[in-house]
Amino acid sequence: MSQRKTLLTARPALWLATAAVVGLGAAVAAYAGSPPFGDPKSVKYADALWKKMERADFVGDGAIKTVPYEGQHPHGAVLETLYGEVSVKGHTGELIVKRNYGGEGVTNAKVANNRAKYLGAVTVMFKRGSGYDPENNNWFWVKYKPDGSLATNPKGMKLAGRVAKGADKGCIACHSSQKDNDFQFNTTEFINK
Ligand code: HEC
Repeated sequence: MSQRKTLLTARPALWLATAAVVGLGAAVAAYAGSPPFGDPKSVKYADALWKKMERADFVGDGAIKTVPYEGQHPHGAVLETLYGEVSVKGHTGELIVKRNYGGEGVTNAKVANNRAKYLGAVTVMFKRGSGYDPENNNWFWVKYKPDGSLATNPKGMKLAGRVAKGADKGCIACHSSQKDNDFQFNTTEFINK
């Protein structure tokens, strides 16, 4: 499918559920007692990370602007992706922030003119220290709502941590297809086309 196709040929309905990453409740039972994500520690960490991202202008008022581009399922119809580094609780790590935009009639231009109106979610990968989750390159995964609070899965679990380790759906499951690229999809194949 051509990345150049216009939004007229895209299917907006598919995108209305901006980044509605589904089914994260499955298979968590394997970690009964110590869920890989959504636990109080992960939630606290995600809150600390949001504050750092705000201070570094990855999110919030006055956040850095990039050129919005046409998105990929299950992220938004329109996306911005920013790369950087922040320090959280004494650990400095690589940060990837994806702003997911959606909503009726959304276009790249409309987002560029009014980001707040179309922002549906902010999905983040933050590289934690070795030993956090070695099988998955120690990424900490988070899905925030636009105000910085945490999005939840259908079971009400907050999407912060090793989301959803052991499950066949969710951040890790899907991004595992890019294991050889440090769990990242974006190459020039996906962005700036
Ligand atoms: C069904 C597959 C799928 C799921 C589930 C998924 N993603 Fe992604 N993700 C993608 C694709 C495809 C891209 C590339 C999108 C683009 O920029 O066009 C991407 C890109 C990203 C990026 C930018 C880095 C990169 O890989 O290029 C971040 C950050 C990200 N996703 C975070 C998350 C988080 C956090 C979750 C879980 C809450 C999640 N993703 C769930 C498919 C998925």
